[in-house]
Amino acid sequence: MADLHSDVWAGTSRFTAQWHQNMLVQQWLPLVPGTEAKLRAGGRVADVGCGTGQALIALARAYPAITATGYDAHQPSIEQARRAAAEAGVAGRVSYHALDATAGLPESFDVITTFDVVHDAVDPLGLLRAIRDALRPGGRYLCLEINCSDHAADNTGPIAALLYGFSVLYCMTTSLAEGGEGLGTLGLPEPALRQLAGKAGFTQVRHVEMDNPFNRLYELTR
Ligand SMILES: C[S@@+](CC[C@H](N)C(=O)[O-])C[C@H]1O[C@@H](n2cnc3c(N)ncnc32)[C@H](O)[C@@H]1O
Repeated sequence: MADLHSDVWAGTSRFTAQWHQNMLVQQWLPLVPGTEAKLRAGGRVADVGCGTGQALIALARAYPAITATGYDAHQPSIEQARRAAAEAGVAGRVSYHALDATAGLPESFDVITTFDVVHDAVDPLGLLRAIRDALRPGGRYLCLEINCSDHAADNTGPIAALLYGFSVLYCMTTSLAEGGEGLGTLGLPEPALRQLAGKAGFTQVRHVEMDNPFNRLYELTR
């Protein structure tokens, strides 16, 4: 992970920042009213694999009562996230920590999010277990994953080509480099996610219908 060129991290951040700034609060949260209510009530929120922290900055701006913590295994991203939160004026309510979340989260939360993280993980099941264990009773886990089919022959066209490119450049490689599962960008379609979530102890997985060529959103209940 540390060997990747800094452009990889910068490119990822620029790609996903558009979702966090323009879609997360405006389009995605209205589709998950139970989660949204917890944010409005001022819950404790964690973003696991937070990268440069953009998602929590958007959430903190939209939900002034929340306090939030971002965790990521990549220290330079955490430092960038801290700077971004300070610039956005939310550093008093949003903090970031370098951590391999598979080892467990140090606190419990009302809402936990991951945005394109599980398919990259060295140990996707271990990561889901850690998230499940850190959810408070009634807590919600919002999991953004890739919009793909479990039939490889259906994953065609320009978006699939782009996603397979990401996979080789980053998603699969970063996991295999640590002896991990190497699911890759298109390696966690809905049936595979449901199976992992069940093993991790989640009682419910809801596919949140939305029109998005890149991603699928799931709401998981402890
Ligand atoms: C594709 S990036 C997405 C980053 C961010 N969620 C976003 O939307 O920009 C995946 C991130 O997950 C982090 N990650 C992967 N496995 C992790 C783990 N076990 N613990 C903490 N962070 C992890 C990586 O360091 C990377 O920053």
